[in-house]
Amino acid sequence: MTHFQYAYDIEPERGYLVGMVLQQERALLSIDDSLDELALLAETAGIKVVGRTWQRLRQINPKTLIGTGKLQEIVDDVMLHEAGVVIFDEELSPRHQRELEKRLGESARLLDRSALILDIFGQHARTSEGALQVELAQYEYRLPRLTRQWTHLARQAGGGGARGGSGGVGLRGPGETQLEVDRREITRKITKLKQELDHVRAHRHLHRRRRRSSGLPLVALVGYTNAGKSTLINALTEADVYAADQLFATLDPTTRRVQLPDRREVLLTDTVGFIQKLPTTLVAAFRATLEEVIEADLLLHVVDVSHRNAAQHIEAVEDTLAEIDASSVPRILVLNKTDRLAGPLPSFDLVDTYLGTVAISAQEKQGLDELLDVMRAALERQMTSLEVVIPYQTGQVYSDLYDRGYIQSEQTNSDGWRLSLRLPTAQYESYRRFAVTESK
Ligand code: GTP
Repeated sequence: MTHFQYAYDIEPERGYLVGMVLQQERALLSIDDSLDELALLAETAGIKVVGRTWQRLRQINPKTLIGTGKLQEIVDDVMLHEAGVVIFDEELSPRHQRELEKRLGESARLLDRSALILDIFGQHARTSEGALQVELAQYEYRLPRLTRQWTHLARQAGGGGARGGSGGVGLRGPGETQLEVDRREITRKITKLKQELDHVRAHRHLHRRRRRSSGLPLVALVGYTNAGKSTLINALTEADVYAADQLFATLDPTTRRVQLPDRREVLLTDTVGFIQKLPTTLVAAFRATLEEVIEADLLLHVVDVSHRNAAQHIEAVEDTLAEIDASSVPRILVLNKTDRLAGPLPSFDLVDTYLGTVAISAQEKQGLDELLDVMRAALERQMTSLEVVIPYQTGQVYSDLYDRGYIQSEQTNSDGWRLSLRLPTAQYESYRRFAVTESK
């Protein structure tokens, strides 16, 4: 993060971080590491961190989340450091948000980790689908939290909705409060965004079909933010995807062709970086983009092995994969940034869930041949080649095969469509009755 440049000439906003440790809860990262990560997020959003604190709690205060004594300490500290924004490391419930805003008064505005991540995503979305998804996630996050401060992020350049969409509010109806008007307006926007997204997704589905019909297996890169996915895709394809020492530099998937050692080609697709405590509205909104992950034949899970929290990063990524129902997709663990390792390669508990582990340096282009070889072997295990004849009256089967398999040739015969294709082995049984020849 040392290369970060503030996007605006004006003094960056000064931020104060607040963390908490709940005694009964198992946290993925230590409080210091979690606050370090929050500081990176804040910096990526253009905020300069001027102070931080945290509290260990036996149970949360139903009103103010943290203890009232601690809260007063924070208010004083915020004044002392002249901070304009207080950022909580946990997602604040609407109730806590309202109460904390009241206690902070005019001294500073309030954000939480989720709002920050949503803001960064808003700044980085480049395709219309990415922008729509972020905007939807932002409105869904805001709806239950509507207060006078709900437009907070919109005040920052580039923030507040990828399309600058904090939105105007409609006229008040009889007996309606401004808050009710705002709610109605946001609900309307959410409905509209969902419709727009449906439209974009119909296109994406067609696009995916066309890609499938190329007959090439799909390999998706996943990993914790900043793990080096874009650098790896560049190293493998010279694609020149934007790689930067910033969190979530890649938001929209990019797909490129790569040749394996057996000269067969695969499609390689980058995905959005994961992070612990990814906002739930965001995961929901990004489900469609993450379909690339669910439908992939193979995942490359890229991890920055030089990071002291590498094991926790792996776990956070695995948690998100489970959340989007992608745990069953076969995957390879790619230990990146080995050039930064002083000692031996660390080992990880979860290693059994992977088809293989490869150590590389994407930046130094080391270990890439071995990676390609492991990918080839993994894919070969995954696919069965077969020829099928699909009777014309079973059009749905024909359509499903285009969705699930890689069609290499198609002929129309008197008895139906004759397709030569490769199919993930896991799906083979469902289509066996149509097979005329098969070979692994
Ligand atoms: P997100 O967009 O946040 O998902 O990040 P990403 O996983 O695409 O990471 P990216 O490729 O943008 O790399 C993040 C930073 O790590 C960049 O500064 C890269 O130059 C650096 N990096 C990537 N691979 C290596 C490596 O093998 N060695 C070293 N030393 N640095 C690397």
